[in-house]
Amino acid sequence: MIKAIKGTKDILPDSIEKWKYVESIISLVFKNYNYKEIRTPIFEETSLFARGIGEETDIVGKEMYTFEDRSKTSVTLKPEMTASVVRAFIQHSLGKKQSLNKLYYISPMFRQERPQAGRLREFHQFGAEALGSGSPILDVEMITMAYDILSGLGLKDLTIKINSLGTPESRQNYIQKLKEYLIDKESLLSGESKERMSKNILRIFDSKLENDIEVMQKAPVLLDYIDNESKEDFEKVKSLLTSSKIPFEIDASLVRGLDYYTKTTFEIVSGKVGSQSALCGGGRYDLLVEQLGGEPTPGTGFAAGIERILIACENENSFEVPGSSINLYIVCLEKNLMSKAYEKAQILRKNNITIELDYLGRSIKAQMREANKLNAKYVLFFGGDEYKLNKAQLKNMETGEQEIIELKNILNKVKNNYASDNS
Ligand code: HAM
Repeated sequence: MIKAIKGTKDILPDSIEKWKYVESIISLVFKNYNYKEIRTPIFEETSLFARGIGEETDIVGKEMYTFEDRSKTSVTLKPEMTASVVRAFIQHSLGKKQSLNKLYYISPMFRQERPQAGRLREFHQFGAEALGSGSPILDVEMITMAYDILSGLGLKDLTIKINSLGTPESRQNYIQKLKEYLIDKESLLSGESKERMSKNILRIFDSKLENDIEVMQKAPVLLDYIDNESKEDFEKVKSLLTSSKIPFEIDASLVRGLDYYTKTTFEIVSGKVGSQSALCGGGRYDLLVEQLGGEPTPGTGFAAGIERILIACENENSFEVPGSSINLYIVCLEKNLMSKAYEKAQILRKNNITIELDYLGRSIKAQMREANKLNAKYVLFFGGDEYKLNKAQLKNMETGEQEIIELKNILNKVKNNYASDNS
């Protein structure tokens, strides 16, 4: 049997309603903040991500689905959206059409990570990017939108962590200090952290290993080394979050796994999803547009993982979607009337009535069982003596009431009932 690739998941019909509900909250919040949807291709030239995210990051170094297509171009399934959005922004000169572009997306992403609960190889992100303003108010807007969506889904066990990574120059000074601090402690670090010493030293803060954590706890703090402008912007972010009553913590070890960040960064973690606790992450990236060949344009954004959010929602029992139902089930009492029943169904379907009938030649009892299983609001008994008089029995499945109606009136009957049920 051929199975889905490890780390990928089918979203089956019984969980679609949950996904649609989550997507409806996402779109609603982004609409309230006037973000416009953008869709970009599933794959891009590999160099976009290598240059955008950074050669030394785990994503680019270890996790990308990269292959040569038939014309020998190296292409990569997108591991994240920021680089793609920036590419589209530059390619279509969006900055010339509008000075501030507020964009959002919902899309599958691909990273070849070791699969575990909340960590997949194909997963879905939603996120936003605002290109064209360096205002810290937009950083707060990103944090607030993410928080609005997560709390809109009923999640409560959330912690917002914020930090500032400063400018690359101020970070270089800090990296020098960190190297000096770690030089005589290298032997205490794990193999992976030793490797990060030369490649991406800040990421040692991401280690979950006890020894590494102990060493890093006493390390110099990046926030003490960032430039004045980054510091001022960080203060503004903190004060606006406070006045907006958005709870947050400062996490000086929050370094993020992508190289493009400048100034304020953040993550929102859940206490209810185990080790893969980051539901969303983001921050400012004021140099990325220029780095990818565009006019210097500041940017800020975030992305969140829908599968992780759904785990948190399940564990917090945070929302329930109503079970699905249909409006009418036609129980066909005589097999030779099946085509006629189908014709009736078609008239009703064209009038936007959700309707089902039997295609399997089942007994009347089995058809009733199916009507119950589908949570049909009404059942029409098609056939018998009534049919000869162009009539049929219509049963309201909620009240149990049954009446004889003229077949030509079904639409009105069902439509009226449907309308009054949904009022
Ligand atoms: P990221 O932190 O790499 O940031 O990913 C954002 C979120 O995507 C994570 O917090 C997590 O919920 C989800 N996620 C990441 N990897 C996986 C995975 N393998 N399985 C399931 N969920 C996953 C970014 O992608 C940046 N582009 C965010 C951003 C936008 N920064 C600025 N603008």
